[in-house]
Amino acid sequence: MSRYAITAAIAINLALCTVSSAYAAEAKQVFDFYCAQCHGVKGDGKGINVGPDFATDPRNFTLAKDMEKRTDADIKGVIKDGGHSISKSPLMPPWGATLSEEEVDALVGYIRKLCQCKAK
Ligand code: HEC
Repeated sequence: MSRYAITAAIAINLALCTVSSAYAAEAKQVFDFYCAQCHGVKGDGKGINVGPDFATDPRNFTLAKDMEKRTDADIKGVIKDGGHSISKSPLMPPWGATLSEEEVDALVGYIRKLCQCKAK
């Protein structure tokens, strides 16, 4: 086996081992990296970016009574197309060009975990 083939085999092995177990952890990582500066590490809408000049408060994902009004498709749509797509604040950026379909789906699942709620 060439050195390249061995390296590739190791890489594939590592990928297979981590994918299933890291799915939930990965959603948190993506959230912490891209969303937490506004929505807060705890998802409570109190991110480090949010000061008195912030025209619209980022959604607090921990409030079940608000988040259960949204379907998973609503949440997915806003993440991909941004706040302006549903006549909400453009301060919520569109992420469709940055994040993969899988990452967006994982974020919807993560937001459902934060609110501990489902669409009503
Ligand atoms: C630059 C700040 C900022 C960042 C970064 C940001 N958001 Fe937002 N987000 C907002 C604001 C502000 C709103 C509220 C919009 C409104 O209510 O008019 C919002 C609203 C939302 C909503 C809509 C909630 C509802 O009312 O239906 C979802 C879902 C959401 N954000 C998810 C995310 C996710 C997931 C990420 C990371 C990939 C993210 N946001 C990153 C600022 C941000």
